[in-house]
Amino acid sequence: MQILDGKIVSAKIKEDIKLEAAEFLKTAGRKPHLVAILVGNDGGSETYVASKMRNCEMVGFDSTNLRYDTTITEEELIKKIEEINLDASIDGLIVQLPLPPHIDPDKITEAIDYRKDVDGFHPINLGRMQRNLPCFIPATPYGIMLMLDHYNIETAGKKAVIVGRSNIVGSPMSILLARNTKPGNCTVTVTHSRTQNLKEEVLQGDIVVAAIGKKNFVTAEMVKEGAIVIDVGINRELSNETKSGFKLFGDVDFDAVSQKASWITPVPGGVGLMTIVGLLKNTLEAAKGTIYSN
Ligand code: GUN
Repeated sequence: MQILDGKIVSAKIKEDIKLEAAEFLKTAGRKPHLVAILVGNDGGSETYVASKMRNCEMVGFDSTNLRYDTTITEEELIKKIEEINLDASIDGLIVQLPLPPHIDPDKITEAIDYRKDVDGFHPINLGRMQRNLPCFIPATPYGIMLMLDHYNIETAGKKAVIVGRSNIVGSPMSILLARNTKPGNCTVTVTHSRTQNLKEEVLQGDIVVAAIGKKNFVTAEMVKEGAIVIDVGINRELSNETKSGFKLFGDVDFDAVSQKASWITPVPGGVGLMTIVGLLKNTLEAAKGTIYSN
């Protein structure tokens, strides 16, 4: 078994991004700028947004975290987004999900100018991704594709089984792996809560992407010998073993599944770090205007 090491790959790509950001600063006279909106104080979201902001600073981007109380209305939030859409000093805008129940995430996603949608969640970006046109690709699937590419993992003709059909990971991942690209050209199965015989489906996978949000959901008996296993889960549990007071668990039972897998991503140190890289790359592209001209 070999590790798909998010630490090594993300560090290497971030070095390249840092050089490009310095180049951008020289020519444009400013840094790429990402704004992240956080509504409420969900512990996981706070951690992820703080990490996104920290990583922006690390590669030489400007970053702004706008925080709102859960009492903000949908209209107020959309108004704020519309202001940012018009602000030429801001290249990328993300609204951290989940949002409180009175705010419709689809309306918020569609309010963001697709040219600043560095999460790649806007229907225009999703549609363009499906058509294999230049677009912002959702950060986690993008990071996974960069990881597969870095390790030169052959995906063409392989059977990929995705566990979970979320808008953020499962659904875009299924599109990317099926596209006629490298990596890509897989035969893709998307499994979800209504799938029958889940174990048999996952056992078919030469590549398994676990994005279900349940600790140790994918067990060794569900995974084929030699499979490539990508664990997207970030399940936080209180712990007195760590400085943060939390311990992270993937969606895959790593100890057992790693005995069968040919390649596997650890948690932490796998996909989570690559998500950040996907977001940084999108923000840089937004600043440079290479996908949609500025
Ligand atoms: N919540 C979980 N993952 C993500 C992500 O990639 N982007 C946003 N905006 N919210 C998330």
